[in-house]
Amino acid sequence: MRDLRGKTAFVTGGASGFGFEFAKLFLAEGMSVFLADIEAAPLERAVEALRPFGAVRGAVCDVAQRASVQKAADEAIAAFRAVHLVCNNAGVGGGSGGVEEFSERHWDWVMGVNLMGVVHGIAVFLPHMRAHGQGGWFVNTASMAGLLGQPYGAPYSASKSAVIAVSESLSYELRETKIGVSVLCPGFARTGIARSERNQPPDLAAAAHAALSQAAAERAAMAAQAVATGVEPAEVAARTLQGIKDGDLYIFTHPAMRKMIEKRFERIGAAYDKAEKYV
Ligand SMILES: NC(=O)c1ccc[n+]([C@@H]2O[C@H](COP(=O)([O-])OP(=O)(O)OC[C@H]3O[C@@H](n4cnc5c(N)ncnc54)[C@H](O)[C@@H]3O)[C@@H](O)[C@H]2O)c1
Repeated sequence: MRDLRGKTAFVTGGASGFGFEFAKLFLAEGMSVFLADIEAAPLERAVEALRPFGAVRGAVCDVAQRASVQKAADEAIAAFRAVHLVCNNAGVGGGSGGVEEFSERHWDWVMGVNLMGVVHGIAVFLPHMRAHGQGGWFVNTASMAGLLGQPYGAPYSASKSAVIAVSESLSYELRETKIGVSVLCPGFARTGIARSERNQPPDLAAAAHAALSQAAAERAAMAAQAVATGVEPAEVAARTLQGIKDGDLYIFTHPAMRKMIEKRFERIGAAYDKAEKYV
């Protein structure tokens, strides 16, 4: 999607972190921006902070609920007529614990926001983009954690792997259209992600892991430290903007992590070498 001027972006999770930085860059490109976020006060502050730079509106929205995304989309369309770029970016950190330690409710929360939030954004906006016919783009925020399983963080990794899979599937489905998709896979960045429990549904927050296992507690501390010393979210946003303009399916922001991905493929390759001995 080369020409952004005069177009409209809808950004979920736009009150903080990557979403807020996306909005800044999109406004600087001459776009109108609609922010959707579950946190009312930060959302209001974000809209106020961005107002001097262009046309910006916002709505409180829970991306895990299709009806809530639809309502925010209707508001965005009423305000700006057509939406061309949808950043399905809202996400939560997913907590620390062994696969078996997370409650079913906890899994539902993480998958509901991180995976279904992306699915809802696509389901709500794709018919609109097809109808206005002016072309469109989706940016789905996954993570390097979607390409690399991590100990004591399975819900997050599982949700982000699924976002990559949905994005790849969508890219095939959109092949003959003027609509495309990017999947953003960042490593650690200095955002509010390590404080995601602030957005837990109240019943979950009340039942929060009272006693994390030693290993899970160490992982939680490591992740918080990695976020605190990660890259600036503005860097990730700048890379994302370039990926959108270049029409890239995959957007990576942490080149040093390439080796870890190559290791994974080496292991997969070795498993295939073994499989070939049996056919
Ligand atoms: N920061 C990192 O290190 C990192 C790395 C890889 C991927 N990511 C992904 O980047 C995306 C943005 O996160 P961030 O790092 O900017 O964190 P952040 O916490 O600063 O921003 C996330 C935003 O999403 C909002 N949100 C949470 N639940 C929501 C819901 N149910 N409905 C609507 N909005 C909701 C929050 O209120 C917040 O404004 C997430 O999908 C995250 O998983 C972050």
